[in-house]
Amino acid sequence: MTDAFIATLPKAELHVHLEGTLEPELLFALAARNDVPLPWSDVNQARAAYTFTGLEHFLPLLFRSASVLRTGQDFYDLAHAYLTRAAADGVRRAEMFLGVQTFLDAGVPIAYQLDNVLAAIADARADLGIDSALIVTSQRHRSQAAALEVLDLIQPWCERIIGIGLGAAERGNPPVKFADYFATARARGYRTTIHAGEDGPADYVREALDVCKPDRIDHGVAAIDDPALVARLRDEAIPLTVCPLSNVALRVVQSMAAHPLRIMSEAGLLVTVNSDDPPYFGGYVNDNYEAVRTHLGLDRATLADLARNSFRASFDDPAHVAAHL
Ligand code: HPA
Ligand code: ZN
Repeated sequence: MTDAFIATLPKAELHVHLEGTLEPELLFALAARNDVPLPWSDVNQARAAYTFTGLEHFLPLLFRSASVLRTGQDFYDLAHAYLTRAAADGVRRAEMFLGVQTFLDAGVPIAYQLDNVLAAIADARADLGIDSALIVTSQRHRSQAAALEVLDLIQPWCERIIGIGLGAAERGNPPVKFADYFATARARGYRTTIHAGEDGPADYVREALDVCKPDRIDHGVAAIDDPALVARLRDEAIPLTVCPLSNVALRVVQSMAAHPLRIMSEAGLLVTVNSDDPPYFGGYVNDNYEAVRTHLGLDRATLADLARNSFRASFDDPAHVAAHL
């Protein structure tokens, strides 16, 4: 049960992968609609498979499930379902990732993907009163050339895409591999964010700051191992989009009680709480707030600080941000 204070706390969600919001029920509906085979016989069997040894165990399952998304309507339905669920959690602003390469590989044109997510964003603003924006991500296990191709492909939509990110397999794919990708994205007017310090080391967070110059770091929990880096993140007020349930599910931390979020917050870091891939990791944004409240003993003032941080760290217009502080 979610604490009533958390349930009604206005918040922004800044780290959620749209393809990672596919609930098993919609997964099966889309698989049937598009005649895509699944390795599970029903929803319960799928849910039972959502136990992971780490990021590199999780990612192939995520990509396999995402392969049921084929038509424009599928992307609309996916985004609409997430935004409906987020609005119910008191999310007032959602900045959502879409990893377009998975779908391009399956032959889904970029226009099917972007036009329909953008239509769902516009409809949710009108119908649900939730403000949302799209961040296109590339996958770091692929080449930088492939990531630069993504930037060219999305150029016709550049005015309607707020940011550019980088996700997928971190270890062995350091930030320096994508230096030109981030420089190009920035030159084209995008805000930027990079997954770093999830299952990779603190050094990757430092390298991301030095080489990629992102506006935010996604996860960043490994930074806690490096006091000089923590001081830098604090002094430069770099936002960290932390995903507590994801970190436990992917064994980035040993348990929720051992999660460094409280220490990060007390060190003065601009930390936010997010869901990453909610059906896979056991919950939406309020479940993440609830988990840290219960296991780290966070009081209401701290929870409210985390929610305020989420607006401060957003890529929204400063005037809109100020209205939430
Ligand atoms: N980490 C990196 N890439 C991802 C994740 C994640 O947790 N989820 C979806 N893509
Ligand atoms: Zn992520």
